Amino acid sequence: MKLFDVYPLYDVEPVNAYDCIVVDKNGIEYLDLYGGHAVISIGHSHPHYAKRLKEQIEKIGFYSNAVQNSMQSQLAQKLGKLSGYEDYQLFLCNSGAEANENALKLASFHTGKSRIVAFNNAFHGRTSAAVAATDNAKINAPINKQQEVTFLPLNDIDLVKDELQKGDVCAVIIEPIQGVGGLDEGETTFFQQLETLCHEFGVVLILDEVQSGYGRTGKFFAHQYHGITPDIISIAKGMGNGFPVGGIMIAPHIKPKHGMLGTTFGGNHLACTAALAVLEVLEAENLMDNARLTGEYFMSLANKIPGVQTIKGKGLMLGLEFDFEVGDLRKKLIYDQHIFTGGAMNKKLLRILPPLNIGKKEIDQFIKALQNVLIVEKV
Ligand SMILES: Cc1ncc(COP(=O)(O)O)c(C=O)c1O
Repeated sequence: MKLFDVYPLYDVEPVNAYDCIVVDKNGIEYLDLYGGHAVISIGHSHPHYAKRLKEQIEKIGFYSNAVQNSMQSQLAQKLGKLSGYEDYQLFLCNSGAEANENALKLASFHTGKSRIVAFNNAFHGRTSAAVAATDNAKINAPINKQQEVTFLPLNDIDLVKDELQKGDVCAVIIEPIQGVGGLDEGETTFFQQLETLCHEFGVVLILDEVQSGYGRTGKFFAHQYHGITPDIISIAKGMGNGFPVGGIMIAPHIKPKHGMLGTTFGGNHLACTAALAVLEVLEAENLMDNARLTGEYFMSLANKIPGVQTIKGKGLMLGLEFDFEVGDLRKKLIYDQHIFTGGAMNKKLLRILPPLNIGKKEIDQFIKALQNVLIVEKV
């Protein structure tokens, strides 16, 4: 059997990784400024994480959600405390799309309505309602198009009001900083007015923190820069440092019913161990502060890079917008300079999503490599 060929692949095969470094099968070391798409939060193969997972798998790796698993409550408590949402409720699943799927479904159960408001250039995943709320016709199959979704531009609150007052909207879903779309973000007044309108019209406000959460922007959640309190927050990526785990954090006024949501694998013992180990390291190593400070350091140097038009993002969720498409630049960075970076829907944007323990030395290495490629080779 062959693989179903859906991914355009770089010709690199990582077989080993540590800290901010990925090692390929020929022993070449790459600086990881991509984090496997914002997934590696505490660094590759972190010793505490590896030890916790090894110890857990020797005890029990999985049992179903039909029996008690107190590790889920331990995780809920620790996550509530570190994120500032101690009175919220946690539902665990396995990926970002699944988190948003459950968030939208819950909003629909809660309100009895079905239309979604989402934003231009949004990315929320590839499953049913999540992909319908994703602004990319190419990845929406005919079966997904039966969902009712209205896409609006960021920062136009009057258009949001026009839609919400029609009375049929269950949820507004928004990324605090767009990831795949290319690092655009709403203004603080927009987020605050959005929150007010959602309360006024009984619409569930979902903040998709799948990429921007877990300390990546320097606060636990990126929406915390705007002083808002969403009804549902979706999480995944950095949550498990590579172990597939996702979830939704749900405000106390949304009440659960048995059978309303469910999953076979979600919240299993290994997933909880990975997620707890991530929070333990995030706290012990002050990685949120590191993300903020290293991000500021990056910003202070990035304007010295030739061809950079705009620097976008916060903390270690960053984008450099050039005056040319960055596809060739990314290839040169990988093959010649041995540095992984990310792309976006915006083809002129280079995305920087490193592990949160990255330091100034690695940022200096990247800036130098980028200058070499841009000045010497004139991409
Ligand atoms: C903001 C956001 N939401 C949802 C997803 C989907 O997550 P997953 O690929 O784990 O399903 C992504 C993935 O890139 C994302 O960036």
